Amino acid sequence: MSHKILGIDIGGTGIKLAIVDTETGKMLTDRIRVATPKPASPEAVVDLISEWVLRLDWKGPIGCGFPSIIKNGVATTATNVDKSWIGLNINTYFSKILNTNCTVINDADAAGLAEMEFGAGKDKKGVVLLLTLGTGIGSALFIDGKLVPNTEMGHLFFKDAIAEKYTSNRTRKIEELNWVDWGNRLNEYLQHIDRLFSPEFLILGGGVSKEFKKYKKYLKTDFPIVPAQQKNAAGVIGAALAARIAIQK
Ligand code: BGC
Repeated sequence: MSHKILGIDIGGTGIKLAIVDTETGKMLTDRIRVATPKPASPEAVVDLISEWVLRLDWKGPIGCGFPSIIKNGVATTATNVDKSWIGLNINTYFSKILNTNCTVINDADAAGLAEMEFGAGKDKKGVVLLLTLGTGIGSALFIDGKLVPNTEMGHLFFKDAIAEKYTSNRTRKIEELNWVDWGNRLNEYLQHIDRLFSPEFLILGGGVSKEFKKYKKYLKTDFPIVPAQQKNAAGVIGAALAARIAIQK
């Protein structure tokens, strides 16, 4: 089997894709980023992916990260995408329309897989958590390297709403929070996470992980925090990796 897989990270704001060598975790093409269609219905998203599959002349397997709880290929929630995804078996739907083997998993779980295999979490044992800070907050929890899927820590009830409303990167932009104010909010949220899950090592992913130096001094947790090594490419690389794992099963 070829280790090359098309990885796609479907987000509430952007869709990112690249062909990935799942042996090395390296992207073999530039990471392409296009705006998520509005509304982000299954038809609109798959049309856009079809267009890129054609442009890249891609005929191999595809792995997708999707911002929802995914149980055996079926989306059971839809927070930052169109509600019509709920109940859809995305594996079957994409595989049929794109005419190839497609595997979908939660987007943060995908980013976590990539960081554990090739990035900041490599060889880390114990309770390791990855949080993606983007349009929403995604989480991937690992115990001795094994993923506990669909943890949804961005949906913890915190400060009168779900936590992602208080401290996602989107909230930082919408409320025009400076790094001190947003960093302090993130710190409060991480203290809460600590009380509930006692992570031993935390990896921060999403676009804002590139700016880690600007807010790391406000994060006063007992456990170490590092930015994702693959920055916001972790989602694309991990989506491809998830497809490889599913195919090899
Ligand atoms: C969704 C998660 C997703 C996260 C990051 C949340 O709103 O519920 O499934 O992982 O956003 O995209």
